[in-house]
Amino acid sequence: MPEPTLYIRGGQQLSGYAQVSGAKNSALALMAGALLSPEPCRLHNVPRLVDIQRMGEILAGMGVKVALHGNILDLDPSHLTSCHAPYELVSQLRASFFAIGPLLVRRGVARIPLPGGCAIGARPVDLHVRGLQKLGATVHIDGGIVNARASKLTGARIYLDYPSVGATETLMMAATGAQGETIIENAAQEPEVADLANFCRAMGAKIRGAGTNTIEIVGTPRLHGTEYTVIPDRIEAGTLLVAAAATRSTITIGPVIPEHLRAAIAKLQEMGLNIREVGVNKLEISPGESRRAVDVETLPYPGFPTDMQAQVMVLAAIAEGDSAIAETVFENRMNHVPELNRMGADIRIKKGVALVRGVSALSGAPVASTDLRAAAALVIAGLAAQGVTEVKNLQHLDRGYEDLEGKLRGLGAQLQRSTEGCPFAGAAAESRRAV
Ligand code: EPZ
Repeated sequence: MPEPTLYIRGGQQLSGYAQVSGAKNSALALMAGALLSPEPCRLHNVPRLVDIQRMGEILAGMGVKVALHGNILDLDPSHLTSCHAPYELVSQLRASFFAIGPLLVRRGVARIPLPGGCAIGARPVDLHVRGLQKLGATVHIDGGIVNARASKLTGARIYLDYPSVGATETLMMAATGAQGETIIENAAQEPEVADLANFCRAMGAKIRGAGTNTIEIVGTPRLHGTEYTVIPDRIEAGTLLVAAAATRSTITIGPVIPEHLRAAIAKLQEMGLNIREVGVNKLEISPGESRRAVDVETLPYPGFPTDMQAQVMVLAAIAEGDSAIAETVFENRMNHVPELNRMGADIRIKKGVALVRGVSALSGAPVASTDLRAAAALVIAGLAAQGVTEVKNLQHLDRGYEDLEGKLRGLGAQLQRSTEGCPFAGAAAESRRAV
């Protein structure tokens, strides 16, 4: 069966309301966190994504009973049968590495393959490993497998060289089962870290300071099950806002927690967009008089999120003037640049900074996505372009966005997945005219 292609007929204005799903990067961490207690947990507002399904398979392989009904996920980790995750699954889902902390708490042993790199960088786990060793675990890496053991975990003071989201989450979870107090300094402050802390506290964990750069955890002997609702996905929300901005549209999205989007909202307003809070937890975006060029530097939260870098680059590509976009979090997160240039963008990369010269319009073209957020950026570029854009490698999109195409169609966009060629009649001629 040939892989489907997403065909997008650009130039349509969007309107209406789009629903924001639960946060992928929170739900994945919470799934690992559920391992901390032998009692069942129920998670609400879980997005239906390939990554969630994969994480469920990894947990099921350890003996966890996993059941997803709509957006409700039931996890029963009462009978763990294995503390190992298979390489073929971990290599596809880095977040599965987060299970290492909870497994050490529950069973004192964990064997998790090194997640390996991906399209955006090497993505080592040295901060996770060094922190676990400070908590008293012995860790050695053999044949690409991280073997961790801990007859008991003891609270410690841990300073993270970099405010890594994953390392903060791994160590916070491990510390809930360590004897005494753990302090994590230079911790990641992302909302997903705070959401995981709130979930663990609902299970009885003693955690203070999550969401700041210093987190204090006092170990407790046993956590209990709980029900919990995942926060809205701030990156999906930001992606929808950029889709509206790129097509000069006025739309409303929700639910959102505006606090989680401060950096993205500020940058979009700097580019000339009007964004205002309407009703409860909803945002409305509408076009301004101009589309100003801006400079962007991705930073750990509360800075501008790296997961919004590719999307905002599309806006910069059709802005009036020149923008400089610096990616400081990952070493190789510019793979969308050559694809955008195929659509008529004028972007050059100099020493890790994308120099973007605004052009009046992009033109539809066949493009290929390389990672999750690059895929989203190419969809946005297709919505803004004249003519038809064909996006391949849709598996990246399916990992992180719950029915993005359906949400965009609901706003009036013309896009369709197909394995039998372009579904838009006469589109080829349109594309030729656009060139
Ligand atoms: C989380 O990845 C997210 N994934 C990423 O989202 C997100 O881009 C990233 O945080 C930054 O916000 C999940 O939550 C599942 P990091 P994570 O550890 O935890 C280096 C998406 O598109 N580092 O904060 O892997 C690392 O190489 C994905 O939804 C070490 O050097 O990110 C990177 O350069 C992509 N050693 C930087 O820190 C370590 O031990 C940030 O990585 C760990 C990380």
